[in-house]
Amino acid sequence: MKKLSDKLKTGLHGELSVPGDKSISHRGIMFGAVSEGRTTLHHFLTAEDCLSTLKAFQQLGVPIKRDGETVEIEGVGLHGLKQSGNPLDMGNSGTTTRLIMGLLAGQNFDSTLFGDDSLSKRPMKRVSEPLAEMGADICVTDGHLPARIHGQKLHAIDYQLKVASAQVKSALILAAIQADQPSTLIEKLPTRNHTEKMLNAFGANIQTMADNVTIKVNPQPKLTGIDLTVPGDMSSAAFFLVAATLVPNSKLTLKNVGVNETRTGLLSILKRMGGKVIERHRNDSGEPTADLVVSSAELKPIEIGAEEIPAVIDELPLVALLAAKANGISKITGAGELRVKETDRIAAVVQEFSKLGIAIRELPDGFVIDGAKPWHVEKTKLDSHGDHRIGMTLAIASLLLDEQLQLNGAESVNISYPEFFDDLASVTNIESYS
Ligand code: S3P
Repeated sequence: MKKLSDKLKTGLHGELSVPGDKSISHRGIMFGAVSEGRTTLHHFLTAEDCLSTLKAFQQLGVPIKRDGETVEIEGVGLHGLKQSGNPLDMGNSGTTTRLIMGLLAGQNFDSTLFGDDSLSKRPMKRVSEPLAEMGADICVTDGHLPARIHGQKLHAIDYQLKVASAQVKSALILAAIQADQPSTLIEKLPTRNHTEKMLNAFGANIQTMADNVTIKVNPQPKLTGIDLTVPGDMSSAAFFLVAATLVPNSKLTLKNVGVNETRTGLLSILKRMGGKVIERHRNDSGEPTADLVVSSAELKPIEIGAEEIPAVIDELPLVALLAAKANGISKITGAGELRVKETDRIAAVVQEFSKLGIAIRELPDGFVIDGAKPWHVEKTKLDSHGDHRIGMTLAIASLLLDEQLQLNGAESVNISYPEFFDDLASVTNIESYS
């Protein structure tokens, strides 16, 4: 149980470099592993999720050395992975699981995947079913992990995705590059495009059409290792963007944050709500980055629908927090995917925010929040529900309250942001969290 800070009177100040992007760190390991030659990753995210990916590829026979945030991968090529002697532990990581399924489905050996309790409740048929249409032989357990993959030769597919999910899209791309013919994937809505951009940087030929949802994947590319600096994770910067917006008298600079347009939904939403964020030192080579300068602001309520969700999917608990301080009624819909994240994030946000007396109502696919109603703390023991992003959102909420709150399951931050509480202490006047 971690003690959270109570009301911050002096605001958040200074500069912060958040850890490397989780999505890009996972992909850096995976794509480096199946390339020829060495890939070096700088500013790799050394959190539990990405370490699950790193260990899995070591088990698949890829030499990988890590020295702090620098990772060297000696790529074995698209057909050079080796069968693991033991089942592969996916930990808590949905990204590791779904992407690796697409990759291992086309290898010439068998694999078994398992994960922790939370991951073992998350849906896997969304990946195994379309992969089966490509000839994959994957046996999931009632639609969940554990999964057994009997590696096969795969054929091409023309497929319309049933969910707006970058993880599913990426799994299919990783299968499609091993197929016999070009494949076409059509997304429901555009989702994060790191797989397409990064695989092309390694030498693949993946084209996204002008409609932004049709993706053509050419098979059997020659992938060659690269040197890659992972940008700061927008999804980690988001906690500080929201904290500095909501805590009066704040002005904070977040250095070198990834601002790929498929990830910046929070910035657009903040601007519409009246938030103050200025972009500086933008660098558009490869994955774009910028420094973000954020200051406190009074907020207006907002309505958000399905089309906007993929670019802000991981930040929606924070959007709910912004709405809980905006001057009126906000509505977030089309976000049913939140129910199948590390926990049911709709239920978890409603349950925990209600403890703080926030006027929030659960919808099947989102929330309605009346930010004009004052908060009144009803329970001081909060719970992360074992979910990193819920835990960090609650820690930010506590900065706005006079009461001393406690957080059960605070260690869940290790999944994506092990230094979170130290970084929060460094930009506030909090000495340290205990
Ligand atoms: C991710 C995609 C998103 C996101 C997850 C990481 C990725 O999941 O929520 O944290 O790296 O591809 P979905 O694509 O399933 O929505």
